Amino acid sequence: MIVNTELEQKGNLFPSKIIAYKKEVDTLYFSTDNDVVLEMTILRDSVIRFRYTTTGTFDKDFSYAITKYASTGYNLLEIEEEAESYKVTTSKLICHIKKDNLKVYIFDAKDHKLINEDELGFHWEESYEYGGNIVKMSKTSHDGESFFGLGDKPVELNLKGKRFENWVTDSYAYGKGTDPIYKAIPFFTGLHNKKAYGIFFDNTFRSYFDFSQERRNVTSFWAQGGEMNYYFIYGPKMEDVVANYTDLTGKPHQLPPLWALGFHQCKWSYYPESKVKEITSKFRELKIPCDAIYLDIDYMDGFRCFTWDKTHFPDPKRMVKELLDDGFKTVVIIDPGIKIDKDYSVFREALENDYFCKRADGPYMKGKVWPGECYFPDFTHKKVRDWWSDLYRELIEDIGVKGVWNDMNEPAVMEVPNKTFPDDVRHEYEGNRCSHRKAHNVYGMQMARATYQGVKKYAYPKRPFVITRAAYAGTQRYTSTWTGDNVATWEHLWIANIQAQRLAMSGFSFAGSDIGGFAEQPQGELFTRWIQLGIFHPFCRVHSSGDHGNQEPWAFDEDVTNIVRKFIELRYQLLPYLYTAFWKYVEEGIPMLKSLVIYDQEDVHTHYRSDEFIYGDHLLICPILEPNARGRRMFIPRGQWFNFWTDQLVSGGKEMWVDADIETIPVFVKAGAVIPKYPVQQYVGEIEIKEVTLDVYFKDGKESSTLFDDAHDGYDYTKGRYSLRTFKLTGKKDELIIQQHKEGKYDAGYQIFKIKFHGLPFTVGRIQVDNEDIALSDVKMNGDNTMIIDKGFSQLHIFGK
Ligand code: GLC
Repeated sequence: MIVNTELEQKGNLFPSKIIAYKKEVDTLYFSTDNDVVLEMTILRDSVIRFRYTTTGTFDKDFSYAITKYASTGYNLLEIEEEAESYKVTTSKLICHIKKDNLKVYIFDAKDHKLINEDELGFHWEESYEYGGNIVKMSKTSHDGESFFGLGDKPVELNLKGKRFENWVTDSYAYGKGTDPIYKAIPFFTGLHNKKAYGIFFDNTFRSYFDFSQERRNVTSFWAQGGEMNYYFIYGPKMEDVVANYTDLTGKPHQLPPLWALGFHQCKWSYYPESKVKEITSKFRELKIPCDAIYLDIDYMDGFRCFTWDKTHFPDPKRMVKELLDDGFKTVVIIDPGIKIDKDYSVFREALENDYFCKRADGPYMKGKVWPGECYFPDFTHKKVRDWWSDLYRELIEDIGVKGVWNDMNEPAVMEVPNKTFPDDVRHEYEGNRCSHRKAHNVYGMQMARATYQGVKKYAYPKRPFVITRAAYAGTQRYTSTWTGDNVATWEHLWIANIQAQRLAMSGFSFAGSDIGGFAEQPQGELFTRWIQLGIFHPFCRVHSSGDHGNQEPWAFDEDVTNIVRKFIELRYQLLPYLYTAFWKYVEEGIPMLKSLVIYDQEDVHTHYRSDEFIYGDHLLICPILEPNARGRRMFIPRGQWFNFWTDQLVSGGKEMWVDADIETIPVFVKAGAVIPKYPVQQYVGEIEIKEVTLDVYFKDGKESSTLFDDAHDGYDYTKGRYSLRTFKLTGKKDELIIQQHKEGKYDAGYQIFKIKFHGLPFTVGRIQVDNEDIALSDVKMNGDNTMIIDKGFSQLHIFGK
């Protein structure tokens, strides 16, 4: 394995001086006299692509990561030739490209301050072994600069002082610091002088990032092949960097069905059918809400994908329907390895049609996975994806399975040292044929894409649900994800918290961990603390290997069951809040979880915080990560916050102790927020929602909240049949005004809001709805500061006595 270290490499080559320059529409080309060309494309005023070749010409441009839906267009593009450099100006950025060495310096167009500068800049080393280059970039990093992102790395949020590798890897029972693991998302955000920028290095080869580890003032990234090809994304707000990166690599193509945001129960494995039913019945009996039940590999016949073990599941269609009648959506696992078996139709079809990956010299890529020796479809070939997507017809359309779980798609191979395909395996890569060195990091993504395509087609007119383990940048367009085979330890609870936040800041919000830990068995306390965090992750599923005992909410003691129920109920109550956050993510690329640094980058205290995060727009969550805790110290960001459990108001911008015995974890609500809540349901759609509660938290000042709604499934919302309510709150010493604005053609079945006021600093004396006085009794306003109001109100005005 070639591991570059910048200093040690003697074979580095560098661009020489610029001898020619040309402009074609939105793209500039700077050529040096040693055949290096920098291609600089202005995608938006704040998004610029930098691409280099060392041969004078570029290979065909192709990316699995960049979406065709990415926004493009800029307001300004000016190029000036100066004595020592070319100056490229957009409305947001000024770039200087040095004539004598091609180095790039990027400034904020408004205040002309330096944001990012090349240190050695682009350089490379020729790869004798494989041909092509090891491509490298180094940038100056500044004192006080922080770095965030990179997908699922299980280390502190701030990456400064560390080095990472991107190579999608099956990592059973990984731990803190294990690198690489399941995902390769070569995107980071840098933050210094209160300004954030992002760099997305769109190169699928094994790549590395060094954040001031090797040299204190240098950030570098390099890959073992392909092009130096990166996107520079300017904020200066970190949230905008993440949103713009997400726009570039794609927002989810549609909202998930609302049920997918409910609670999911999984285990390796629930079988036979009677066991599955026993589990689902227990949920209903104990009144613990649950929307999805998973079938792991044992539902199949000898682990052959797209088959059923008919002794354990004699009539899957009937079972799936019965589960659905009870509110349970069935999700089944599908792995990429296809058992070598001439009597198995999926194997035969793939063989006959030449869909399997081959080694360099012609034999099939053969490897062991659950079914024994397997071949593996080449998902980087469109016709293979089309075939694969069609295989879902029976499962989805006929049997009625509602979601598909793609696993082992790194691809994982058992009993081999590198845990995956050898480098020489060939891939189609959409006509750009290549070796596994280039295709490895996208293999799982393309499998998930093919699955998504099939589930989407056959679930229509309903929306698809897919989950994947492996991912490259952009996978969020197709599927949700989980963080792989974690362990039932307190350290892993810490890791789960980090990974969900990190994935969100890497464009992949729809993520969660195996709650309770996959390997080993948690104590009741750990399970409880994990649920208390997990219900605030966009994807919420208990999963375990089952080797060490059961992990259902009732597998511990009654106290655990009761607390777990209370928290799962809270997730169901907050569904409209979560759904609104999801809509913002799908519409605008806004991460659903915001680490404190994203929430308030101007406060340097947030730059090294990892535990606390903002869920949606207005809830601050901090998990309890230690046994026997009765509370913890945590950082409350600037502003006024209400303790969710006690309504006690605290002023942030500091660390403080917060009580949280086993019944609670620290949750705070931002003052001024309007939090929508549903009544508890055992599953989405169980009951007709007759009223929505709005929890209104007083603020002396202004705050705005939103509530998105639609039919909770299907595509009507894309045709305007959604409703988007904005609540503008203005609070003063002795009055409170809430203005409501609604857009969209959808009208939910419920007619009323139940408004609950929290922290009103006055006693309600008078109420006006749409400028008319209303008797307090008409809105059922009583001592507990709760009132009922028609959902169509435009303005609610509360006056103190
Ligand atoms: C892998 C998955 C795990 C699954 C198991 C059996 O370890 O990560 O979630 O249960 O395979 O399919």
